Amino acid sequence: MRQTATERTTADDYREYGLAFPADFVFGSATAAYQIEGAVREDGRGPSIWDTFSHTPGAVVNGDTGDVAADHYHRVEQDLDLMTSLGLQAYRFSIAWPRVLPTGTGRVNGASLAFYDRLVDGLLERGIRPIATLYHWDLPQALEDDGGWARRDTAYAFEEYAGHVGSRLGDRIDTWTTLNEPWCSAFLGYAAGAHAPGRREPAAALAATHHLNLAHGLAARALRDVAGARTRVSVTLNLQVVRGDAEAVRRIDGLANRIFLEPMLHGRYPSDVMADTAGVTDWAFVRDGDEALINQPLDVLGINYYSTSRVRLRTGTGLGHRAWDGAADDTTDDDASPWVSADEVEFVPQPGPYTAMGWAIDPSGLEELLVSVAHRYPGLPLMITENGAAYDDVLTVDAAGRSRVADAERIDYLRRHLVAVHRAMARGVDVRGYQVWSLLDNFEWARGYAKRFGIVHVDYQTLERTPKDSAAWYRELIANRRIPG
Ligand code: NOJ
Repeated sequence: MRQTATERTTADDYREYGLAFPADFVFGSATAAYQIEGAVREDGRGPSIWDTFSHTPGAVVNGDTGDVAADHYHRVEQDLDLMTSLGLQAYRFSIAWPRVLPTGTGRVNGASLAFYDRLVDGLLERGIRPIATLYHWDLPQALEDDGGWARRDTAYAFEEYAGHVGSRLGDRIDTWTTLNEPWCSAFLGYAAGAHAPGRREPAAALAATHHLNLAHGLAARALRDVAGARTRVSVTLNLQVVRGDAEAVRRIDGLANRIFLEPMLHGRYPSDVMADTAGVTDWAFVRDGDEALINQPLDVLGINYYSTSRVRLRTGTGLGHRAWDGAADDTTDDDASPWVSADEVEFVPQPGPYTAMGWAIDPSGLEELLVSVAHRYPGLPLMITENGAAYDDVLTVDAAGRSRVADAERIDYLRRHLVAVHRAMARGVDVRGYQVWSLLDNFEWARGYAKRFGIVHVDYQTLERTPKDSAAWYRELIANRRIPG
């Protein structure tokens, strides 16, 4: 019998060194504004939902907040030099909406645009392509006070914001990403309560999904209007690789993947997802013309990949098992389920090994995902906009005073996932690049600073940066365009 990608997953299969990537494949690294910038009250920045949420007792592990983070806002020159020393070809960062428009709409704050101007110019001077994300979860608090993503007007506010940023930076951005992981914004933010704004309202989560999709379409159109038809536009989705019972897989694939992919790429919501959620909402928030508007041309689809999930339909009452146990997301034990209408689906614990997030390491899922997206949406170029791992890194200082973080497990994780990307490409999938999550250790949302994803270590007392062994490994990979042994 022909082997499937899943069956081939053994450590031995990934002992492939020296695999070469094409000359135009873009290697880079990614971050997000609230996770690294700090300086939350400087230069006129307004509060975001993550400021409010992280300052809410019990919301984030250890009470951590993004107030200082990696202090990137003050250390941007140093961080740019770090990128040069790693040989990055691209840098994926996000722009903080509450810096640009402190209350979400209306008055533009010029000082903040000057900061992003400097960042973008600094990248271009160093020959690094800027990939700018417009929304990486930091909604201006003033907009949440008016209803947040559950309210349609938020999508129009986003269009306004995209227009301002596009006019200011559009001549220099390589690729725009409208939204990062809208599933997390909608379902972790409005159904599970695990992310800002911490709401547990299933109907609001579905309305938020639609308004995020609409915001994507409006912003894509606005960017092309102000920055020219040649502007490259993308969106980044955290597509879930779900295995198990066909019906359980259909439900989760619908709520996690097709609810975004189908309107964005085919201009219509999947009818099965609408039927599945009919008990939660009547979908009256979708107005005539919305789906066509969401369906803007995409130059590239960004995919964030970390792990896979296994699901099955519940037998019996299922009491004591929540529908998302074991899912690769950021929920903690106190949260409600993000799966607004999939109570009969349960997540089966995955065999290890795991990263420090508790996520199963499964590179075969990345190959499988890339092949299946290419099959479902032929002709669409893909980019890995995030992939990486948190480990309990230890910084050591030798007798000569040299610091080091020996993160062999992260190197192994990255190598195996890059082999998976390479395999997908060998099977004909058009993958244009790979961005490691993350350049720096940073604020890992509800998990705070305890989870370190960086290839560069950050000492949160001194804010000193120390490239980990994985950074040296990645630099060698980029320099040789081959997976090092
Ligand atoms: C996805 C998110 O985009 C990013 O902000 C987060 O830190 C990583 N996953 C790791 O959880």
